[in-house]
Amino acid sequence: MAESAVRMEDIALGGEKKKKSTPHDVDPAAALALARHEFGEHGGVNMSIEASATFTVMEPESLRRMFAGELGPDGDFFIYSRHFNPTVLNLSRHMAAMEGTEAAYCTSSGMSAISSVLFHLCSSGEHVVASRVLYGGTHALLMHFLPRVCNISTTFVDIADLEAVDSAIVEGKTKVLYFESVANPSLKVANISKLCCLAHAKGLTVVVDNTFAPMVLSPARLGADVVLHSISKFISGAADIIAGAVCGPASLVNSMMDLHQGPLMLLGPTMNAKVAFELSERIPHLGLRMKEHCQRALVFATRLKKLGMKVIYPGLEDHPDHELFKSLCNREYGYGGLLCIDMETEERANLLMNHLQNYSQFGFMAVSLGYYETLMSCSGSSTSSEMSEEEQKLAGISPGLVRMSIGYTGTLEQKWTQMEMALARFHENPPI
Ligand SMILES: Cc1ncc(COP(=O)(O)O)c(C=O)c1O
Repeated sequence: MAESAVRMEDIALGGEKKKKSTPHDVDPAAALALARHEFGEHGGVNMSIEASATFTVMEPESLRRMFAGELGPDGDFFIYSRHFNPTVLNLSRHMAAMEGTEAAYCTSSGMSAISSVLFHLCSSGEHVVASRVLYGGTHALLMHFLPRVCNISTTFVDIADLEAVDSAIVEGKTKVLYFESVANPSLKVANISKLCCLAHAKGLTVVVDNTFAPMVLSPARLGADVVLHSISKFISGAADIIAGAVCGPASLVNSMMDLHQGPLMLLGPTMNAKVAFELSERIPHLGLRMKEHCQRALVFATRLKKLGMKVIYPGLEDHPDHELFKSLCNREYGYGGLLCIDMETEERANLLMNHLQNYSQFGFMAVSLGYYETLMSCSGSSTSSEMSEEEQKLAGISPGLVRMSIGYTGTLEQKWTQMEMALARFHENPPI
């Protein structure tokens, strides 16, 4: 493969080569606190936004050397912002610190991060083994788009069944094991460590989408090679930005940026510097936000269950993955900010959501997650609608599954009262 113009190894962790892991690297908050802090041009506590698309050089010879990979961002040499941009690179460093990877690259959406990684790791004729419970867009990419456009096929399996995963791997052909740390929408938890051991023994690259659990789970610290994010969700926290990230080894980010073969360079899913700046300002309070999302989700899940509702939440002791989650998670964050209520039919799900939004103001009927307000949607007819009825059934998605991303506005008791009001209204006149 041709030389890339930049060596990420040297710049991933603030210009220092990655040191051996210390106890502080293990906690995402502590690792973030150790990441390099950029100051503004005039001594501002926040870095200045480098809003330029292109960058000037003082010597004509520098351009040739930059394109040959001899000069790069580590020495403050930037070529063009589709390649590297200082403000986007700053956010990428923080994403890498949070996930405990050598490097990261921030993209224009979660889907562009996912597709770029898959394009990079698989060529025509190769194969992916993937969880059968994935975000609908990812499922469609693997199920329909990649086979049609790139001749890359996928076998979908129940990743809790390690034997099924093992037997789906075709040696020499399967390149990637792909799953979500906490699955959308079933909230099944992946046994990341065991899946990594199994996949690595067969030479596969393990790619984990950690969108549902930033700070809470650290897949790379448990063995995953690549961690992906839809930053549009919890990391953004304000439902105002679409963005993504690829976190992984410096060599991977480096080769994804290769001038001749790299999908990040050639497909161009670039993040705007102004967006990167805004997101960088939100990373320092991500941990605090996650704790509040998680704490409220646990309280609501516990109380809903006491009322006899069919609640799915990994923090509940009777959730089949509760002990697994406990064994994998970073301490003190909780069990995730999403819970599901299985209302059994779409009609019942819709009626409950209608009361929750339009009668008691508990939350909003909207897709997405990680917002400061509660968002709720019926997954089967929305974010998982790309899957057929049969595929939804296999993935454990009931037609009445209401996925709720629990927000933290208002007081907890105020919100619980709103939930009770909506439930009372529902029971007054339930669908037959
Ligand atoms: C788990 C997961 N991964 C990836 C994505 C896609 O991210 P984006 O909307 O930022 O492209 C989503 C979107 O809902 C998601 O839920």
